[in-house]
Amino acid sequence: MEVSVVLFLIFFPFAFFVQSMICASFSPIDVFLIDCGGSKPVELDDSRLFHPDSSTPNVGLSPSSDIVVSGNEMSISGNSALYNSARVFKKTSAYTIRTKQIGHHWLRLHFFPLQDTKYNLKSAFFSVVSNGITLLHQFSFSKSGQSSPLVKEYVIEVGGSNSKKLELTFSPCNGSVAFINGIEVVVVPNLYFPSSVVPVPLGSEVEIPKHVALETAYRINMGGPLLTPKNDSMWRIWEPDQPYLVNAASARDVMVNPNLIKYPDGVSAEIAPNWVYATAQEMAEANVTDQRFNISWAFEVEEGFTYLIRMHFCDIVSIALNSLVFNVYINKKSALSSFDISSKTMALSAAYYVDFVTNVSMGSNQILVQIGPPDLRNLPGNAILNGLEIMKMSNTCDSLDGNVCVSSGNSKIPRKILIVLAISSAAVFAVLMVIVATFFLYLRQPKKPKRCPSTWFPFPTNVGNSDSKVSICSLASTAQSHGLGRVLSFSEIREATENFDESLVIGVGGFGKVYKGMLENGVVVAVKRGNPGSRQGLTEFRTEILMLSKLRHRHLVSLRGYCEEQNEMILVYEFMAGGPLRKHLYGSNLPPLSWKQRLEICIGAAKGLHYLHTGAADTIIHRDVKTTNILLDENFTAKVADFGLSKLGPTLDQTHVSTAVKGSFGYLDPEYFRRQQLTEKSDVYSFGVVLMEILCARPAINPALPREQVNIAEWAMHWQKRGLLEGIIDAHLAGFINLDSLRKFGETAEKCLAEHGAERPTMGDVLWNLEYALQLQEASIQNASLDNSANHIPEIPGWIPQVESISANRFDSISDQASDATTTTSDVFSQLMDPKGR
Ligand SMILES: *[C@@H]1O[C@H](CO)[C@@H](O)[C@H](O)[C@H]1NC(C)=O
Ligand SMILES: *[C@@H]1O[C@H](CO)[C@@H](O)[C@H](O)[C@H]1NC(C)=O
Ligand SMILES: *[C@@H]1O[C@H](CO)[C@@H](O)[C@H](O)[C@H]1NC(C)=O
Ligand SMILES: *[C@@H]1O[C@H](CO)[C@@H](O)[C@H](O)[C@H]1NC(C)=O
Ligand SMILES: *[C@@H]1O[C@H](CO)[C@@H](O)[C@H](O)[C@H]1NC(C)=O
Repeated sequence: MEVSVVLFLIFFPFAFFVQSMICASFSPIDVFLIDCGGSKPVELDDSRLFHPDSSTPNVGLSPSSDIVVSGNEMSISGNSALYNSARVFKKTSAYTIRTKQIGHHWLRLHFFPLQDTKYNLKSAFFSVVSNGITLLHQFSFSKSGQSSPLVKEYVIEVGGSNSKKLELTFSPCNGSVAFINGIEVVVVPNLYFPSSVVPVPLGSEVEIPKHVALETAYRINMGGPLLTPKNDSMWRIWEPDQPYLVNAASARDVMVNPNLIKYPDGVSAEIAPNWVYATAQEMAEANVTDQRFNISWAFEVEEGFTYLIRMHFCDIVSIALNSLVFNVYINKKSALSSFDISSKTMALSAAYYVDFVTNVSMGSNQILVQIGPPDLRNLPGNAILNGLEIMKMSNTCDSLDGNVCVSSGNSKIPRKILIVLAISSAAVFAVLMVIVATFFLYLRQPKKPKRCPSTWFPFPTNVGNSDSKVSICSLASTAQSHGLGRVLSFSEIREATENFDESLVIGVGGFGKVYKGMLENGVVVAVKRGNPGSRQGLTEFRTEILMLSKLRHRHLVSLRGYCEEQNEMILVYEFMAGGPLRKHLYGSNLPPLSWKQRLEICIGAAKGLHYLHTGAADTIIHRDVKTTNILLDENFTAKVADFGLSKLGPTLDQTHVSTAVKGSFGYLDPEYFRRQQLTEKSDVYSFGVVLMEILCARPAINPALPREQVNIAEWAMHWQKRGLLEGIIDAHLAGFINLDSLRKFGETAEKCLAEHGAERPTMGDVLWNLEYALQLQEASIQNASLDNSANHIPEIPGWIPQVESISANRFDSISDQASDATTTTSDVFSQLMDPKGR
């Protein structure tokens, strides 16, 4: 018995090895590699030989067209040779490729617009149809926004009515030409194309008719490198997943030796290369109190189509079977619930894949794939994904491009109805064109580098959409009553800052430099000049203008003006002589603030946030509350700054706003991090971190400290829960802080740091409690002057760990007005931060 187990263990991997060797030597019967317009065979760097279309056996072209363009742009990297010639069609023409087999075939089309004196291929405007399926409808390379060669990949059925033929028809539109550089046709292994698939939302299996064609929208190698045709026996391309991760800090890539990957029975090695299964993303240790969040990937897709989603799993992280159990969601609907890969494969490091279909309805253009731990509390929270393919399915009009059914005229619909249909669709088309044209005119406006008129009016409805491209300038007649900031010319600003003199720099941040300046009228200002060319910066720049223009409050930094011209993004604020609060707490030689000053600063900042949450017409969530974003004026009045990440809060019928996680590490609400649902209570959490930072005078995150002290929220709560918060307070406060005041302050911070948003107080409550803490402090000072033995903490007891002052200087080499701490945090943590989250 035992011997057989041992033998099995020895031979089991071997058996798989043999099997995968056999599969890896897959040599498809039908392989057509065509170099369109070429004159001699070209070999690509994956060592495949492409033959000229004029001399490939079983490939015909009719009517035979002899327009060939060729270039000598050898500079295109990689497979350049294929893009060195193209065939150009002036009228509808078709390739006929006679295959040996019927069934599904890959069809890959290579497009690259060569420079040609006679034909402008970049703006060539054409449609492509294959075996009755519209692949490209009124396509133009220039509209695709691509500059490198474009490879489109499809799965097309050969057979049916087209017996053993793949026809590929190019139709130039409207007097233009069509072109193609290269064509690949390769038979698809039988297993590849599923006949019925589980839908999401879950229901009974959906049949996929054989004539349905697929277009590869995304093919992703999670946690792994780019795989090129060289690395894949089916010559596919697998991209890395980083660009699609909604929150990079939520995932960590893992990898094993690809030779360890086994392909069990029923999983052909052609499904995906072992490189795909050997790498994965798993949940990063977020060190939130309990490891419960999703890893999310968002993919932009065309609306109104059904998508086939294939997920590749391989448990490369567990050390035992049945120890990795997780949930999978597609567009927030459950796809796999409490899924255990090993229950399917009965082995670790074994390949497994599962297919789903989902409809992307009109008005939506994304597929969100999420993985996360189930609610079972006894298992360690983890989840993995190794690979993902998203394939668009041809619709009922046999189209893969656009939702317009191209009538082929072979239907049995009576002529009369056809005419009516034609007229009405023409009318609809005309209306659509007008809408599109209006929309484009509207979109074009902000791109003009012209100065905005000096009266302007923000569009509040666009603030929530951080990708808004809508002009910030408008000639609305109500402008004067809304416009608070003034449009300043670049020359005015240059004068104010003595041509951006380096000696006037008062801060440097992720956004750019901050200068002190003086306007013509003698007003001293802080000038924040964005790094030119940063798209991210542009969004934040505009958000900040939109936000600040609606707000005026004693405890919010006010915007004096802005400038957007000559690619410059400049914001001009009131000058805050005291600089960021953080500088007064640690990392500088400034005199320490008294407890009363600190309480007053907390109260000021709380008033500012309270106003944001409740005072304006819409709730505004700041999203980046931290000690570098609270500025002090010459009288130590606190003002909240930096509204670049702010968002409008939920409206009455919503409970939250769903959004990608942004903010600064150490201040991030754990609930928001997990669920990506934003409410104003996320600001309350961050404010709780600020309160602790003010009390303890140390950074929110200090990686130089022992593990349990790194995160101030955890460390301070540890002591607060034991009623011993005084053990870790700033040494400068010892002896000057009233114990009751400290207790009230500690309780308030504790409530702010509650795990669930619903348990946290509103900023109004926080404000009230802080004012109470101030009263307690003031009352005790009065008493103290009467009775010297008052309720003061004598000094810090000896057992308290020395938390502060060792490494504080490292963290504040740069002090800046309204910028981020993340730029100054050490490398240890930079990798954990969301790159999108500044
Ligand atoms: C077709 O070409 C004509 C003349 O060049 C042009 O006026 C018209 O706008 C084009 N139509 C489309 C749909 O591009
Ligand atoms: C998608 O929508 C079509 C048409 O409404 C419907 O027939 C099909 O069952 C839907 N598929 C899924 C997976 O929901
Ligand atoms: C892909 O193939 C190339 C060329 O053979 C090789 O250099 C590269 O390491 C391969 N990548 C992977 C991930 O196997
Ligand atoms: C979480 O804690 C572990 C040690 O327990 C550490 O290695 C890791 O870097 C921490 N991760 C984060 C995101 O803080
Ligand atoms: C993960 O995402 C799904 C769907 O969006 C959601 O229902 C679930 O609550 C999320 N899980 C966690 C732990 O946030």
